[in-house]
Amino acid sequence: MTRKILVTSALPYANGSIHLGHLVEYIQTDIWVRFQKMLGNTCYYVCADDTHGTPVMLRAEKEGITPEQLIDRVWHEHKADFEGFHVEFDHYGSTNSAETKEFSQAIYRKLKAAGLIEVRSVEQFYDPIKNMFLPDRFIKGECPKCHAKDQYGDNCEVCGTTYAPTELINPYSAVSGAQPERRNSDHYFFKLSADTCQQFLCEWTRSGTLQPEAANKMQEWLGAAGENKLTDWDISRDAPYFGFEIPDAPGKYFYVWLDAPVGYMGSFKKLCDAKGISFDDYWKQSSDTELYHFIGKDILYFHALFWPAMLQHAGFRTPTKLFAHGFLTVNGEKMSKSRGTFITADSYIKQGLNPEYLRYYYAAKLNGTMEDLDLSLEDFVAKVNSDLVGKYINLASRAAGFISKRFDGKLAVSLSSERTRFLENLFIKTVNISGDVDNCIRGQSPEIPGGIEGGRTTYIAQFYEQRNYGGALREIMYLTDIVNKFVDSNKPWELAKQDGRDVELHEVCTVILNAFKSLTVYLKPVLPKLAEDVEAFLNIAPLKWGDAQIFLPDAHAINEYKHLMTRVDSKQINAMVEANKETLAPVADTHSPVRHAEAQQHAIAPIAETISIDEFSKVDLRVARIVNAEQVEGAEKLLKLTLDIGETQPRTVFAGIKSAYDPEKLKGRMTVMVANLAPRKMKFGLSEGMVLAASGDAPGLFILSPDDGAQPGMRIK
Ligand code: MSP
Ligand code: ZN
Repeated sequence: MTRKILVTSALPYANGSIHLGHLVEYIQTDIWVRFQKMLGNTCYYVCADDTHGTPVMLRAEKEGITPEQLIDRVWHEHKADFEGFHVEFDHYGSTNSAETKEFSQAIYRKLKAAGLIEVRSVEQFYDPIKNMFLPDRFIKGECPKCHAKDQYGDNCEVCGTTYAPTELINPYSAVSGAQPERRNSDHYFFKLSADTCQQFLCEWTRSGTLQPEAANKMQEWLGAAGENKLTDWDISRDAPYFGFEIPDAPGKYFYVWLDAPVGYMGSFKKLCDAKGISFDDYWKQSSDTELYHFIGKDILYFHALFWPAMLQHAGFRTPTKLFAHGFLTVNGEKMSKSRGTFITADSYIKQGLNPEYLRYYYAAKLNGTMEDLDLSLEDFVAKVNSDLVGKYINLASRAAGFISKRFDGKLAVSLSSERTRFLENLFIKTVNISGDVDNCIRGQSPEIPGGIEGGRTTYIAQFYEQRNYGGALREIMYLTDIVNKFVDSNKPWELAKQDGRDVELHEVCTVILNAFKSLTVYLKPVLPKLAEDVEAFLNIAPLKWGDAQIFLPDAHAINEYKHLMTRVDSKQINAMVEANKETLAPVADTHSPVRHAEAQQHAIAPIAETISIDEFSKVDLRVARIVNAEQVEGAEKLLKLTLDIGETQPRTVFAGIKSAYDPEKLKGRMTVMVANLAPRKMKFGLSEGMVLAASGDAPGLFILSPDDGAQPGMRIK
């Protein structure tokens, strides 16, 4: 019986680029979906950009464009990034769509009719200069506990305390720097504290919908039955806000997390309309289809509590299961911009690295749990080169040449029974005899734990189904090792040199290519592009899961072998890390935790070591005219400046001043630059110097200006 399955990945925020951390999720989901499709199940994979909220609104404002323009640009970037990694959605939409708006409002109306919406006055910080209420992340101040300066409104990065923004000492608006005022405003709440919600969630979270670790977390949040620990959820935000207006509540908008998951429905609705799929089949309360959400562990709360409660009380079905995963670390540490390990999807592709290397590596590390996973760059190179290229690809390259040169590109007409048994034992039979590789080559089979019916093909399928791709790949590589041993013990290269052994050579190469084909079936969810190339090389139709157990026809004609995959060069990896380093920003990063720690200890940063006048004069400071200033696509902090210092060609300098300056206002201004700093290749181009700017513990960043009359090129000494 074929299953009907709808799968989603979390919707990435439209205010940032896709990075390798995100890809843990999208690659993982894509593998699962491709596997389901190969099995012949009906499986749809939808996703969308998560477009609403204050950060998008403010970023658009800073760039001098509308939020719609910003989200449109980012949508295209995200789409290209996903395509680059072969993540294939059936539909990729946007939460800023008519469909998502309608569903959000309909759900809200149902919740309201059920008595689950309540209006309450809330006191919040208000920025009197920007005329807006400030989200917690946009308020900064001194930590009430450890007194570290410049901490965000929700928690302290230095001591880890969480608090309300109103507890901060000397709070200021991170948007304008103004001192915020406390103001009251009406907010709309979803009454999660209602008995019906608590009871429903207690049951739902225990009913096998969550992984064990996630279910435990939920019990902490929910408390014991009857304990009713949940509090109501504030779902409204005041204008100005980029989002959907709440029906019959002028000036009030849905909080971004209200409409974000509804985006799953909105995106799927678009697909249904385009393809004639029945939306209700998948979303009505009694639906017998399956619904799975792949998410990171950081957003479990939203998906395991708010989302099912919303659906349930608005008359929709709830998810079949949530698949939560852990976070990516690179070389054992959190991704970091200064170490160059905050690697964007785009930079990986631009470096010319094959996206399937990363798909393979992630798959090898994923096991279906919420554990974090590490991308060790050294291990990445080693694993891809040894497993993928050394073991698997090598099989094809060792056999294909003989077939095309010696046998007119055709496989053998028949195989000896022993050789047939080798293939059957590897891919078809349920043999539960304990055996080793040598037995297998002799026609017996290595053991499958539990003697699973359907042999290894089913065994590997179970790993995929459970999202234990690491388990699947271990098994696949085990089989690959056996096939390589078969090659080594049959030595086709020697058979080729001996007279009268053509039949053997032909059969051995035919076995190798058949095994290679079955292994390709197993790897296809992970390596879809490579599988396509193999299909072209073997001259066969797109491989489905069951094809692992069907061997190529007698005397089948294959095409000439072309290189399928090359080894990773660690130089490319190093270059990618370099390209992702954002250290050139001439001004210290005031957001880094390290600086917070420093700021605590010193009223002003200590004065640097004494230097001589000679040492100082090594620094060639010049008056520069900013001829042009522009945004750098994809850079969070940088502006690209064109500086005239009286040379024939102006200089290009990337300066980390985006947070403080509108490029338009910089054009024509005079400033000061270091003219003899070694040029540095950055992700976005070559930077030929550095612009000076002042910064301290107080917010703000200030570039320098010479007094009137100074000319471009004048030396400062
Ligand atoms: N917009 C919300 C999701 C709304 S879903 C209705 C969001 N966006 S996000 O861009 O921050 O993250 C998208 C997904 O990527 C989330 O599931 C998140 O957990 C995942 N990841 C983001 N960074 C990650 C790592 N470093 N490692 C693994 N997954 C990561 O959350
Ligand atoms: Zn603190």
